[in-house]
Amino acid sequence: MPEQSKDWWRTAVIYQIYPRSFADSNGDGIGDLPGITARLDHLVELGVDALWLSPFYPSPQADAGYDVSDYRDVDPLFGRLDDADKLLAAARERGLRVIVDLVPNHTSSEHPWFKQALAAGPGSPERARYIFRTHKPNNWESTFGGPAWTQVPDGEWYLHLFDAGQPDLNWDHPEVRAEFRDILRFWLDRGVDGFRVDVAHGLIKQADLADWHYPVEPLTGPATEGIRPPMWDQDAVHDVYRDWRRVLEEYPGERVLVAEAWVSPAERLAAYVRPDEMHQAFNFEYLEAAWTAAAQHEVITRSLAANGTVGAPTTWVLSNHDVLRHASRLGLPIGTMRPRGIGVGDPQPDLVLGLRRARAATLLMLALPGSAYLYQGEELGLPEHTTMPDEERQDPMFRRTNGEQKGRDGCRVPIPWQSDAPSYGFGPTNASWLPQPANWAGYALDRQRGVPGSTYEMYRAALRLRAQQGLGPGSLTWAEGPEGVLAFRNGDVYVLTNFGETPASLPAGARPLISSEELHADGTVPTDVTVWAVV
Ligand code: NOJ
Ligand code: CA
Repeated sequence: MPEQSKDWWRTAVIYQIYPRSFADSNGDGIGDLPGITARLDHLVELGVDALWLSPFYPSPQADAGYDVSDYRDVDPLFGRLDDADKLLAAARERGLRVIVDLVPNHTSSEHPWFKQALAAGPGSPERARYIFRTHKPNNWESTFGGPAWTQVPDGEWYLHLFDAGQPDLNWDHPEVRAEFRDILRFWLDRGVDGFRVDVAHGLIKQADLADWHYPVEPLTGPATEGIRPPMWDQDAVHDVYRDWRRVLEEYPGERVLVAEAWVSPAERLAAYVRPDEMHQAFNFEYLEAAWTAAAQHEVITRSLAANGTVGAPTTWVLSNHDVLRHASRLGLPIGTMRPRGIGVGDPQPDLVLGLRRARAATLLMLALPGSAYLYQGEELGLPEHTTMPDEERQDPMFRRTNGEQKGRDGCRVPIPWQSDAPSYGFGPTNASWLPQPANWAGYALDRQRGVPGSTYEMYRAALRLRAQQGLGPGSLTWAEGPEGVLAFRNGDVYVLTNFGETPASLPAGARPLISSEELHADGTVPTDVTVWAVV
């Protein structure tokens, strides 16, 4: 067991594994836990500190495992409980910490509690664990499209902010609270280092279940500015995290909670990381910020200030399994609202520009003080699959919006490890639960490993330098730069991203350490390039 370094999470780089799509050990086309264990050395070579595993629990897979039917086991698709233990042990041997996903806002409709609730009927104590009403009480829509209420055969309605297969739990119920404390302990006892908390802003609903006439996701539209949606970010949700923090602190080492909370502004998000609550909260405002010097300057400044008031680090992130991969997102015209998926008939991103900006964005992010999350495949510069045939799509968002939103399958495509192998080395056969684009051989790890200038080698070098230079624990001081240029110092490192149209100059005597593309022959920094230098 490696020594427990204090506050590891404040500066850690954490790699998100989406188990279905990482590595398939048995050739059924679905990634699994033994596949992950066999590939842990990749993460060591890359240089990350920890990994976060998206759900691998028993589930009908109505939402790719975010519909859990048993919180204390492993779905046979992904292996057995014993495989989770082996993974944890193998990660520990390598000094990698492991965070697992916790889905407390809703269970699967196949969870024993929901089945009991249906069987027991209206007014029963079993129903009280969910949010049942005799009449549909409001106009809420599911985040995936369509109504958020579904009627059951006896006439009652239940709330599901997501798919109908994901009934929302009633967090006012003491049994729900007790159950989740116990689930935390189950995984803490097995040695996990923490939990990524799904929909952390959603557990408590405004008591009157008032109507809501704006978009359901608070970060997606200006319409919601200043008005708090009745289903998100209610003050009482913080009691839950104070309670969980106490549970975590009963355990040795530093176990952490990271909030998936689509909450703005930054000051409201910071409330989730007060000293007696969670440790981290994904900075989605940063993820959503436009690719301009002004927007990046603003979001970074605001995030650092807001988290500074509660003494928490900032948790930077550019990609995950819910959003368009940043290599594609940044290839859309600047200022485009992030689409929820792209299909054949939609405007296509500029992949060359997208990758160039993505590399610059990553180097910028990894130079910032705090912690950062990477999403599997971004170290290969993987783009979104934007031409996936509709009939292959599996995201409930696609179905529930009648295809109006293509959904998130495009960022969930299995990883290409080896250019000339079946399924590009994802597994031993050609099987892949989502189709891999025909041109993915060029992105495969074996084509990039040891290749100077490849995205993979850029990530490795950046992670090494970030550690050597102490950028995670550092602090940021903005530097003067011409318009269109973002420049700051973090310790001895001077960081510059050129968003402008003309080449930007580094300070006199600056010695570049790494850059996202080659600099001009005269040492100036081209457009859409980030450079780290020592002055
Ligand atoms: C957020 C998860 O990241 C997403 O994949 C899921 O669909 C929803 N929460 C519902 O659990
Ligand atoms: Ca498999």
